[in-house]
Amino acid sequence: MAEQDADVIESWRANARAWIRALDEKAIASRERVTNAAIVDAVLACKPESVMDLGCGEGWLARALSAHGIAVHGFDAVEPLVDRARALGGGFFYPFSFADFVAGRVHLQADVLVFNFSLLDQHSVEALMPVLPRRLKPGGTLLIQTLHPAQVPQAQAGTWQREDWQGMTTAFAEPAPWFFRSPDQWQALLHDSGFADVALETVRDGASDAVASLLITARPS
Ligand SMILES: C[S@@+](CC[C@H](N)C(=O)[O-])C[C@H]1O[C@@H](n2cnc3c(N)ncnc32)[C@H](O)[C@@H]1O
Repeated sequence: MAEQDADVIESWRANARAWIRALDEKAIASRERVTNAAIVDAVLACKPESVMDLGCGEGWLARALSAHGIAVHGFDAVEPLVDRARALGGGFFYPFSFADFVAGRVHLQADVLVFNFSLLDQHSVEALMPVLPRRLKPGGTLLIQTLHPAQVPQAQAGTWQREDWQGMTTAFAEPAPWFFRSPDQWQALLHDSGFADVALETVRDGASDAVASLLITARPS
């Protein structure tokens, strides 16, 4: 694992408690206003019976989807987040990293694979993408919600960035590194990893029209 990829997991381990508190307190306005509903609607539009939520964090998406009768399996590298997800229910949760998928330790398949703001690494994401088609049931869909370039106008595509948690009311222990890909780079990565029908959509805040995220849909070729 490359050093900065390892830092991603370490930072989420250090920030797990603050992250849980921030979501409990509904402290991230863009999530409450726009992006939570955007990803739930995108999953429901696929009419799945089963979903795998990769980088599931404390499991809010699993809980939201299980309320619609969907079977959810959530995976996250950070044990305290997985423990919290297990305690709150809504699915089966596993303390597995993306590297565990690459190493062939996960044999489940689902109708939808979803990554909600969880594809943060450079190399481990590049290694993960090509194994994902095998984790989808026939006719299945990959969904990725991530930051849109309009939200990070200073960031150069293909470089590491740092979330400093400014404006958060809860105390985060560490900045969170993340690797910024442009829409073209996402498209190329998915094509090279065996996906076709790649669609990229700009998600906007209905009230202000501000850009809230990039939503990517893809199916195996
Ligand atoms: C911004 S949080 C999003 C959590 C959740 N998807 C949500 O919407 O609340 C990013 C999550 O990705 C997880 N993550 C990052 N890199 C990972 C990796 N290589 N393997 C597994 N989980 C990872 C982190 O532990 C963290 O829980």
